[in-house]
Amino acid sequence: MARGEGSLLGFTPVPVSRADTVVVPPGYTWHVVNAWGDPIMPGASDFKPDASNTAAEQAMQSGMFHDGMHYFPLPKGSDSSTHGLIAINYEYTDDNLLTPEGMNPWTAEKVQKSKNAHGMGVYEVRFDGERWRTVRDSLYGRRITADTPFLIKGPAAGHPWMRTAADPAGRTVLGTFQNCANGVTPWGSYLSCEENVNAYFINDTDKISPLEDRYGIGPSKESWGFRWHEFDERFDAGKHPNEPNRFGWIVEFDPYDPKSVPVKHTALGRMAHEGAMLSLAPDGRVVYYMGDDDYRSKFEHLYKFVSKRPWAKGGGYAENQAILEEGTLYAARFHADGSGEWLELTQGRNGLTPERGFASQAEVVINARTAADVVGATYMDRPEWIAVHPRTREVYVSLSNNTARGKGKPVQHKDPVGADAANPRAPNLMGHIVRWREQNADPRATRFTWDVFLLAGDPLHPDPLKRGNVPGGVAFAQPDGLYLDRRGVLWIQTDSSAQLMATKDWANIGNNQMLAADPRTGEVRRFLTGPMGCEITGINFTPDHRTLFVNIQHPGEAPLPHPGRNDPQNPKAISAWPEGDRGGRPRSATIAIRRVDGGIIGT
Ligand code: FEO
Ligand code: CA
Ligand code: CA
Repeated sequence: MARGEGSLLGFTPVPVSRADTVVVPPGYTWHVVNAWGDPIMPGASDFKPDASNTAAEQAMQSGMFHDGMHYFPLPKGSDSSTHGLIAINYEYTDDNLLTPEGMNPWTAEKVQKSKNAHGMGVYEVRFDGERWRTVRDSLYGRRITADTPFLIKGPAAGHPWMRTAADPAGRTVLGTFQNCANGVTPWGSYLSCEENVNAYFINDTDKISPLEDRYGIGPSKESWGFRWHEFDERFDAGKHPNEPNRFGWIVEFDPYDPKSVPVKHTALGRMAHEGAMLSLAPDGRVVYYMGDDDYRSKFEHLYKFVSKRPWAKGGGYAENQAILEEGTLYAARFHADGSGEWLELTQGRNGLTPERGFASQAEVVINARTAADVVGATYMDRPEWIAVHPRTREVYVSLSNNTARGKGKPVQHKDPVGADAANPRAPNLMGHIVRWREQNADPRATRFTWDVFLLAGDPLHPDPLKRGNVPGGVAFAQPDGLYLDRRGVLWIQTDSSAQLMATKDWANIGNNQMLAADPRTGEVRRFLTGPMGCEITGINFTPDHRTLFVNIQHPGEAPLPHPGRNDPQNPKAISAWPEGDRGGRPRSATIAIRRVDGGIIGT
């Protein structure tokens, strides 16, 4: 920190919380802008508090579990901070809360409603001087569900592994799901990251291919219980082995054009995508940093994509939609001495040969995890969101946790993997944040230097492995969402699972939370705590930084085997947020946070 500069953080921190509400610092307020089931398209129905909206009605309402999002000003090209579009991910569902009687009995209509509550959306918002409101019947309003047609672009398009009975050309696919983190392009489109897509596929034959195994496709008894395959055969990988290959991609669409056909970009690799963080190269090429947060294997890699061509400055989606179709994919290796390198995942190089299963670039991107294994990329502790500093170009990645490090054997290994310099705790219960600096601050570089920015934990924990090293002893765990604002404040959102939250090692940590860090000093302050059972995820500011949008995901998550599902007879057993006594069940929602005096958030 330069002499004379004060802390970037100007608010009074909030304590840990077990309250069923959102808590923000003194001088700040919050209100709900948009919740699951709110009508966002012309002609959409109101949300019914008993969840009795039909599948068709759900397809015109906000989806169930709000996640990554981005605010796009209106009119297009302006920097309005009072009127815009929010493009948003609806990551997954609790199908026991989605209908009045939950999953028993399980029906085709309920599968359809579940599919329609997944995906993405666009809703229009206006600030009336006091509150942000969702605009009813907006012509921009849009839903993209697990059945919306997408084009497949890039090296895997048309490859035999992408072809199915319904799509013999391998160039179109229905739907998106597990849309977790997000990104944007310089040309004003929205990117969404398909994360744990294996959860929706089952293969009950005795033939699990190495590719299926590496990507977590297995028998229904090991599945997450979404049970879509019971009424939609394409989710039965035993019958349709290539259908899973059409998921796990970065997807793109134009939020300003509700008719634009969304695209899956295979050049950026297939994985449990987290983060698609843009860093623009000096020559106008676009660079994306991407994590792979696989819930099952835990040990996955960190990736980077560098486009082949610069983007057409001043051009929109139409002029630039091919930019993400060609480029170079890399995976990161972190050396113990604080240096690192980006290893190219290009067919024919670095051992990615036909003999090792890579006959073409299509096979490299479809099986990107194995390619990264082959080149010797570092196994990270569940890499999540990524943020780039607006001035220094330093890159930060959150590593949620890895209970398997140092014990047991991850799926892709013969032997246990212990601690290393970039993943220094075994097991890693609390998570950490790593940052790196590309050589010459050029995002195209293949060399970098890195350090551990912080280790999360409970500073009062008797076990030093679980204490963390945050100055001032701020208790938090499972860093997940990350965002660097225009002033250079690093915002950190947490995702401890409901099974762990406020129990045992997490006893002093309370509900999930959002913190702000000053990257220059390492100072961290807790800014927000969420209601019971929620995850805090999704973050964006208006251009004036006077409104901060945050998503409260799955309030009331049940502490059952992942993913927790509620008791449909008692939907408010854990949380009644946001409506409390007035509401029928907890609802994920976008909230807007403002300062009472209208000032810049965080100062
Ligand atoms: Fe959808 Fe890695 O959180
Ligand atoms: Ca997440
Ligand atoms: Ca999560």
